[in-house]
Amino acid sequence: MLYTKTEEEIELLRLNNDLVSRTLAEVAKIIRPGVTTKELDRRAEEFIRDNGAKPGFLGYNGYPATLCTSVNDSVVHGIPSSYALRDGDIVSVDCGTYLHGFYGDSAFTFAVGNIKPEVQRLLNVTRECLVKGVEAAVDGFRVGDISYAVQTHAEINGYSVVRELVGHGLGRNMHEKPEVPNYGARGRGSKLVEGLVICIEPMINMGKKGVYQEKDGWTIRTQDGMPSAHFELAVVVRKGKAETLSTFSYIDEVLRLS
Ligand code: MF3
Ligand code: CO
Repeated sequence: MLYTKTEEEIELLRLNNDLVSRTLAEVAKIIRPGVTTKELDRRAEEFIRDNGAKPGFLGYNGYPATLCTSVNDSVVHGIPSSYALRDGDIVSVDCGTYLHGFYGDSAFTFAVGNIKPEVQRLLNVTRECLVKGVEAAVDGFRVGDISYAVQTHAEINGYSVVRELVGHGLGRNMHEKPEVPNYGARGRGSKLVEGLVICIEPMINMGKKGVYQEKDGWTIRTQDGMPSAHFELAVVVRKGKAETLSTFSYIDEVLRLS
């Protein structure tokens, strides 16, 4: 049996994930060619601390930063650095917070300047995969229904699903049971019940599914060097329809005005 949250606990997770969502929108405001991923990280850390929270990733298993910034063929867990973003890049920005004993965790992949139409399509489809996963996060379904929804949408669009990294439960720990793979079979896996809080985070490759870890011990890259996209939201399983705790609406507003 999986640990479900009380409404009081969900309220604290809502605060965290709303802050993560607003932090990602602050980062969105400064993403442009020439900005370094370290500058994005500094802005995020400052915003999180100004809001009375702590960066959720900093120090987690020794992770050295507030954000994971993963550019182009980097899938996830890229460490912010002096790398200056270039026109045509994509960058997955993954952000965590820690406030009132709970975690927030979400990610969005941004276009830097003008990107190729085929790369924009990868971003669109990966975000759609996440939406399809969220639509399956309903009481009475199973984890495999989420996995199947994500995988099917990726593969009918000609993309591949990263196997080595998965979504997860979220609460007093950043990674709780259950694991939420982005590939799998309908009707399999743990039962989803109202009050279960999970992060759904498709990592979708334009080319082949294989990935490897860099010598820095963190950065995950595609083996074939083709781009990869990553979007993540935290949701509560409810009856009929999941409740989203994080949102891309702040980001969408920033991008609409830019
Ligand atoms: N968002 C990532 C995940 O869901 C967390 C980054 S792990 C860290 O697994 F170690 F980099 F913090
Ligand atoms: Co996560």
